[in-house]
Order: sequence, then structure tokens, then C-alpha cells
Amino acid sequence: MCGIVGYIGKEKSLPILISGLKALEYRGYDSAGIAIFSNDKIEIKKSVGQVKILEKVLKDDIDLVGHLGIGHTRWATHGIPNEKNAHPHNDCAKRIFVVHNGIIENYKEIKEYLQNHGHNFLSDTDTEVVPHLIEDFLKDKKDFHTALLDTLKMIKGAYAFAIIDSKNSDTLYAVKLSSPLVIGVGKHENFLASDPSALVGKTKNVIYLKDGEIAEITKDNINITNLEKQKTHSEIVRLEWDLEQAQKGNYPHFMLKEIFEGPEIVLSALRGRLKGKENFVKLGGLEQVAEKLKETKRLIILACGTSYYAGLVGEYLFEEIAKIPTEVHFASEFRYREEPFEKGTVAIAISQSGETADTLAAIRKAKEHELLTLGIVNTVGSTIARETDAGVYNHAGPEVGVASTKAFISQLIILTLVAVYLSKSNGHSKNHALLQELEKIPKKIKTILDRSSELEKLAEKYKNCDNFLFLGRRYNYPVALEGALKLKEISYIHAEGYGAGEMKHGPIAMISENFPTAAIVPQNSVSEKMFSNLEEIKARKGPIFAIATEGDKRIVSLANDIFFIPKTIEPLEPLLTVVPLQLFAYYVGTKRGFDVDKPRNLAKSVTVE
Ligand code: AGP
Ligand code: GLU
Repeated sequence: MCGIVGYIGKEKSLPILISGLKALEYRGYDSAGIAIFSNDKIEIKKSVGQVKILEKVLKDDIDLVGHLGIGHTRWATHGIPNEKNAHPHNDCAKRIFVVHNGIIENYKEIKEYLQNHGHNFLSDTDTEVVPHLIEDFLKDKKDFHTALLDTLKMIKGAYAFAIIDSKNSDTLYAVKLSSPLVIGVGKHENFLASDPSALVGKTKNVIYLKDGEIAEITKDNINITNLEKQKTHSEIVRLEWDLEQAQKGNYPHFMLKEIFEGPEIVLSALRGRLKGKENFVKLGGLEQVAEKLKETKRLIILACGTSYYAGLVGEYLFEEIAKIPTEVHFASEFRYREEPFEKGTVAIAISQSGETADTLAAIRKAKEHELLTLGIVNTVGSTIARETDAGVYNHAGPEVGVASTKAFISQLIILTLVAVYLSKSNGHSKNHALLQELEKIPKKIKTILDRSSELEKLAEKYKNCDNFLFLGRRYNYPVALEGALKLKEISYIHAEGYGAGEMKHGPIAMISENFPTAAIVPQNSVSEKMFSNLEEIKARKGPIFAIATEGDKRIVSLANDIFFIPKTIEPLEPLLTVVPLQLFAYYVGTKRGFDVDKPRNLAKSVTVE
């Protein structure tokens, strides 16, 4: 996720690019840059950090007066956030300038090919192969459009590109595959952006580029074709959004938008890493420690909050799939443990922000004990990502809502991949069924999201409760904890998550007709035990809201309200059972009139101890 802007037209492009980038900063950024066609050549400026830093760098540069330009706020995936990795990136001859949103999965092979053909690279990014590849194809005397098409046929992954060519001062090129790109249609000017928020105040007429389309944009014309050079039909849509609305798209809150990003988040986490049919998992971030990981005897997971609950699911995954003893610690407690560590102990930090002080302190303690440390982090180049010996990025894009939702889903995917990856190093590699089911999860999450209105109705029913108990067993025990955290974080209702087996050891004393229970009871190896718990609750007139497997008849006689989810295999159940609980918490919070994106007393990243 990052921000792309482009402009061609009657005005100077620089102020338009800068204001567009500022509007896109909510999408996450770690660096920024622009390229402008000025005085017959293309000038670029880049800087680390916020757009205002780039603006400062530019303010003295009065030469950037051109009417054609592109800009970028980067959310790094390959190459840490620094000036040389910031976009735009260019070819050897400094003719072609590219900004990119997404991931090029096969960039390593392409980069090696190009280096062997004399191309010099300046950055560590995947993006930089694009201008060099176009340059390479142009050597065959092809026209720019054909060279661009040949480039697109070679790269694999997700991308939105904005490109300018110093041999053509009239045209802005745009290409889209998986990452968003929208054209703003003006009078003697046209705009390009990752999303409409960068166009607010400039034009209300937009064209959403579709996957596989290439747009050649001049100030008075927009020519859109597909990869076969055929003209495609494009509809101009009229926007009536204000700025914040544009950033949230059609969603009233970032939290809801991020819950609905679930299917895409799974695909982003899997992209380039999983070949289900071949029982194959590839985690580039672990390559440099692959040999050491073969000696893993014990895993220690360190995290806080939602990331800690993801770690609890990871404990089941690692022990069941990789057969490695695993323990999970609140990072804030691990710091005080004097655990004797055996050789072969590996510490895994899970953190969306990569800046959580307690988790960072715990990782530093693990390193003092000379443990190998891995990070499962969403923010590239963050402190935890940099201080762990190796790791796997989520590629979930920035999570704006304080309550973590899409990051939790992404963390579960990465934990599953790491468990399979580790299983290979110790000979347990019969994971075909798991990996092929993993590839079906995005569609299964979508079927849940399509029925979100059912959860909105349930939220209306339960929104005035003062207490809530969440119960689950095995893989769904951590989901009960996470469901309770979501509800308490954004609705301020007192909610407790418990392993269902623990209910009779105390919590059942709380059950009454005014103390409802959310029970996670999909059809699995512990369903019978869960049904017994529900009988005990029902006998005490406790209202039950159950998450159950579609087609389950037994639950109908036990629960007051049921939300059915698709069947999946037990290790992957949390990816489905958590989604209705995220939605339930969201709707209860909004119906209670709270700002669910910025709950009281909470920060998105707790960088203090
Ligand atoms: C979860 O909704 C909360 N925002 C909080 O518990 C969060 O998960 C915790 O602070 C850990 O953050 P991290 O993943 O960025 O380390
Ligand atoms: N993969 C590219 C990089 O890491 C683009 C990331 C983005 O979408 O900002 O530079």
C-alpha cells in the first residue's frame, strides 16, 4: 500500500503532486519522491519520512516548473526505507521514471538477468527492475508502448505504475494489476492517483483503471488499452466525496474497511510464498537463517495484545504442524522471566507496528541470551524488523484503525506458513490438504463479509449489555480472547475471553440472563465439549450467541442467536471465526456512538512501556 500521484496539464505539476501525496499519507509511508519533466529533462527529488520533509527539500528548487510529473509515498516491501530505495526509480540512461504500488514477485530473477546484460542498479527495491526492463526492450528499436507491454508480460505480482519517458513530454503512462489506480479527468489537464482522496478539490470525474489496462494520458486525451493493445471501455464516474470520505472509500470507518480487506490481506500474505498443489512454501526472509532453523528445539513467541493472541494460535500451529514445543509470552512479562534457555531455542516477535516497546524489550532480552530472533512484522524497516535476525513481512498495508483486525488475519497466515516451513526442516511435510485449504480461505472470508448485516442486527440486540463472556477451545480459545479484546477496546463493554473448559472453574458464577456468552463452536474435534458448556449456560438462562458451522443442526436448540460460517480444517478455523467477532465488535461500538477508529485511551502503537 502506498500513494501514487501523476499530473499532466495546463498547471505546474509540483504543487498538485505534493497536495496529492499529502492526501494519500494515510495509506502509510516511510519515504516519498517526485519526478517532474522540466526544461526538457526529468528531475527527481526523494526523501525519507513524511511528505512535508520532501516539501522542504523542494521549496528551494524553483526550477521544477514542468507540467508533467509523478509522485510516490512508499510503504516498503523490498529494501528498507531510505532515500535510495524511495521512488521514483529510473533506468541507466535516466530516460524512464517509474513509481510503483505493490510487489514484483520475480524481481530477483529479472534483476539478475538485467545485471548480466549491463544494467546497474542503485536500490534494493523490486520496483527498480521496471525502468531497466523497459530500457532493455527499447534497445530492440521498439516503440515505448510495445516495450512497456513486453515488460508487463515478464513481471509477476501486484502493481500499479505511473511512468514518464523523457522522450515524450506530453504523455503520462499508467498501468494497473491488483493495486488500485484512478484517473482524474479535468479540462486540459488529467490526474492520476492510487485513490480518489488525492483528487478531491481537483476533479469529480474519475475513471477507475481495471486490471490489465494501460492508460496513455495527455492533457486532452486518455487512451486506455489492454495487454493485447485493444481499446477498452472506460466509464467516467462522478465523485461526491470529501477528503476523509475518499480515504475511507465507501466505508464509514477505517476499521470496517480493514475488516473488509480480509480476503485481499490473505492473498497479499500468500503472494509469491505458497504453491498449494506442490506442497511448497517459500519464505525469502528466512533464507539467511534456514540452516540455523533446522536446529530449532523450542519456539518462544513474544507479543502484546492482538498480536499475542495470534501467537497463541501459532502455538497450536507450530506444535501440530512442525512438532516443535512452543510457548507464548506477553512480551511485557517475558522481560521479568529468568527462564533457562536450552540450545536451539528461537524467539519469534509478532508486531503489526514493529515499534511496540514491550515487544522490542523482550526481543532485546532474547538476544542477550543469544537466541535466534525472528520477526513477523507489518511495517518494513521498523525497529523490531531491523533488530530481529530475520523475519517475514505481512504485506498487509498500513492498518489505520487502532483496533487491529486485518493484521491479525495476516499474522495467522504468516504463522501457518512458518509452521509449514519449519515442518519441512524436521521431516513433517505432509501439508497438501492444509495448503490447498489455505488457498480457499479468501473466498470463505468473503462469504462471511457478504452477510455482515446479520451481525449488525445482532449488535443492535446486544449493544446495551454491560458484560460479555467469550468462550472457545483449542484453536478457538485465542479467538475467544481476541473477540473479547475487540469488544472491550471499541465498545468499552466489560468482556472476558476464556478457554471453555475453564468456565466451570469460576466464570460460570457470572452467568445470568443479563450476562450473554459468545461461543465459538464450529464443527470440530472439541464440539461435543463445547455443547456441554452451552448446556450449562443455557441451564442458567445465559443468552448465547454462537459462531457455528453452516449446516450444524445441534446448535439450533442451544443458542439464542447463531452466525454460521463455512467449514474449514481446524488449524485454519481462527481465520474464519474471528471475522464475525470483529464485525460484531465494530457494530456494537458504532451503535454505542463511539469513534471506533480512535477508541478512548488507546494508541495505535504503544511505543512506551
Ligand atoms: C489490538 O487491537 C490493539 N491495538 C493492541 O492490543 C495491539 O495489538 C498491541 O498494542 C500490539 O501492537 P503491535 O502488533 O503493533 O505490536
Ligand atoms: N514494492 C515496492 C517497494 O518496496 C513498492 C512498495 C509500495 O507499494 O510502496 O519499494
